[in-house]
Amino acid sequence: MTESTTIRWEQDESGIVTLVLDDPNQSANTMNQAFKDSIAAIADRAEAEKDSIRGIVYTSAKKTFFAGGDLKDMMKVGPEQAQRAFDTGMAIKRSLRRIETLGKPVVAALNGAALGGGYEIALASHHRIALDAPGSKIGLPEVTLGLLPAGGGVTRTVRLMGIADALLKVLLQGTQYSPRRALENGLVHEVAATPEEMLAKARAFIDTHPESHQPWDVKGYKIPGGTPSNPRFAANLPAFPANLKKQLNGAPYPAPRNILACAVEGAQVDFETAQTIEARYFTELLTGQTAKNMIQAFFFDLQAVNSGANRPQGVAQRPVRKVAVLGAGMMGAGIAYSCARAGIEVVLKDVSADAAQRGKEYSEKLLAKALSRGRTTEAERDELLARITPTADPADLSGCDAVIEAVFEDTALKHKVFQEIQDIVEPDALLCSNTSTLPITVLAEGVSRPVDFIGLHFFSPVDKMPLVEIIKGERTGDEALARAFDLVRQINKTPIVVNDSRGFFTSRVIGQFINEGVAMVGEGADPASVEQAAAQAGYPAKVLSLMDELTLTLPRKIRDETRRAIEEAGGTWAGHPSDAVIDRMVDEFGRTGRSGGAGFYAYGEDGRRAGLWPGLREHFTRSDVTIPFEDMKERMLFSEALDSVRCLEENVLTSVADANIGSVMGIGFPAWTGGVLQYINGYEGGLPGFVARARELAEKYGERFQPPALLVEKAERGEVFTDA
Ligand code: NAI
Repeated sequence: MTESTTIRWEQDESGIVTLVLDDPNQSANTMNQAFKDSIAAIADRAEAEKDSIRGIVYTSAKKTFFAGGDLKDMMKVGPEQAQRAFDTGMAIKRSLRRIETLGKPVVAALNGAALGGGYEIALASHHRIALDAPGSKIGLPEVTLGLLPAGGGVTRTVRLMGIADALLKVLLQGTQYSPRRALENGLVHEVAATPEEMLAKARAFIDTHPESHQPWDVKGYKIPGGTPSNPRFAANLPAFPANLKKQLNGAPYPAPRNILACAVEGAQVDFETAQTIEARYFTELLTGQTAKNMIQAFFFDLQAVNSGANRPQGVAQRPVRKVAVLGAGMMGAGIAYSCARAGIEVVLKDVSADAAQRGKEYSEKLLAKALSRGRTTEAERDELLARITPTADPADLSGCDAVIEAVFEDTALKHKVFQEIQDIVEPDALLCSNTSTLPITVLAEGVSRPVDFIGLHFFSPVDKMPLVEIIKGERTGDEALARAFDLVRQINKTPIVVNDSRGFFTSRVIGQFINEGVAMVGEGADPASVEQAAAQAGYPAKVLSLMDELTLTLPRKIRDETRRAIEEAGGTWAGHPSDAVIDRMVDEFGRTGRSGGAGFYAYGEDGRRAGLWPGLREHFTRSDVTIPFEDMKERMLFSEALDSVRCLEENVLTSVADANIGSVMGIGFPAWTGGVLQYINGYEGGLPGFVARARELAEKYGERFQPPALLVEKAERGEVFTDA
């Protein structure tokens, strides 16, 4: 056996071998080189000592069962290392397969999360038992990192549950199941309440199945639901790529495509060939750029952001017990729900008791839905609702240790509501505003303790959106920042931290995307192509439809205020080519967006979109204008990426991880890019390639595409955007 083994062999007198996964050099077990060597040595020993073995149990000495691939290593694999990556993957697969086919019962005792590689070890076992530990998750989330499960995950799920279920339940969405839901969906065989019960169940399985093997290794086994070689199945098969195509909308996500191909091809060949096919499709993803982008954002950046790289150190944690939410409208109601769900007492205040009550009813609605889907219990629902007290009486806010204001977007009104309550809440209560546009520094002038005042910008719908943008005003103290950070974590959301500035980071940058889409309509581009370009670039919402949702009047108001402020300060207003289009839409055609019943789209009586407004073609589209499709996509992506670099230059942003996470999780910047700055890092030709292309766009479409100095300097120095 190798010296640095990551697996301990513990054999009892009855002949049961427990393989304890326990990498001595890491806090979690991963499929690294050491694991490759260890599992090979284990397979050797199991074969050599077969006669003394009655059964094998995989379990782990770590908090999680097994974490999956080693992502740090994976980030370094370029096309030159493809063969080596392929060989390593195949070697691990072969070892797992040797243990699986030894002829002895193999049980996975999942003591904690088994995601990716962890669940693949479980799949290579004949029996899977999960400990019902809180927060424990089971599944194959590789697709969310731009990869596919290549430790036999595709090959075995297809054989276990059939192509359709494997794709829909496990592979294409990367769903992470709780142990109970994993049981309901056939990912595990049993759930245990305690570690002792789990091991007893493992032992019982071995006692009753002395010669166990996988169902697919039994002669005559048929993959559930059939395979493409069956004519009935083959007839339905084209629907898969078609559905996937529709889902992806042409956006460049290679992983789902490879997963689909791998599942279908692998189902038609023998097990060993299927494993090789899986390794090939995986290596292609691993050596490509999209997986690197997604691993950077959804693993490293997310971890940095959530673990508090931005939180001032030395401020003690003090969980919020009772929060005042001011304003029970769309945002206030959602904030109240999210806080109550995290166990915080909520006093939800509006101008009238009725309005406050309506805000609480929003939680009732969400909970009724969750109950009908089995996502909550009646007891949990009742407890959550009991934590929300609707009121119109400021006196009820006594005892609150945090305030989140979400009244109308009006500085004077916000000042007034804080004045009304600041002497009623706890004397050191954290004071937050959910404003989406007003400067935090100005709002802080209305309270007696500006040092405790901070922006807490939620996104709509609050119960679903995972991000909160924390905005530091000029006078915000470190203590307030740390407490705001902790509050966001307390309600299980992801915080990014930015400095006060017009539109902060998120509203400002998404504005660039929308303006660019609208500008193209103004230049005479076909509006349907503009929408299609946004979809194909990977944006979750098409650009003109998003403009309609936000209304045309709101950005116009912000724009006019910004212009006034700049001119009053003696500056010149550069303007944007979209300005004239928005003005015409509102002033000449009276089209203000969805809430006004007419915008870039037409709307039916029921408020549903009824196609792009035909007037756009008549008044804006020019037959002599064609903007290359690639330019359309990149104008949107570049406009946001370039403005994010300016946010770094202006110190609105202070970290790369914040930029990447904020853009993908807050404002729909396409996930395949890994975020606004990772997009630049991963662009063809790196930073110099990006700079060259930005200059080309500037030449063709306007000076706003000129690369900022920070970007040019970094490109010249051969650097990338990183916090390291
Ligand atoms: P809304 O119009 O749905 O709700 C505002 C609520 O404040 C109403 O229920 C109103 O009765 C209440 N209110 C007014 N005066 C009050 C007072 N003196 N005391 C207590 N309550 C009072 O507005 P929405 O959309 O919830 O927005 C609220 C805030 O959140 C605004 O500052 C907005 O800019 C910001 N925001 C909005 C987002 C959105 O997507 N709608 C996203 C992020 C921030």
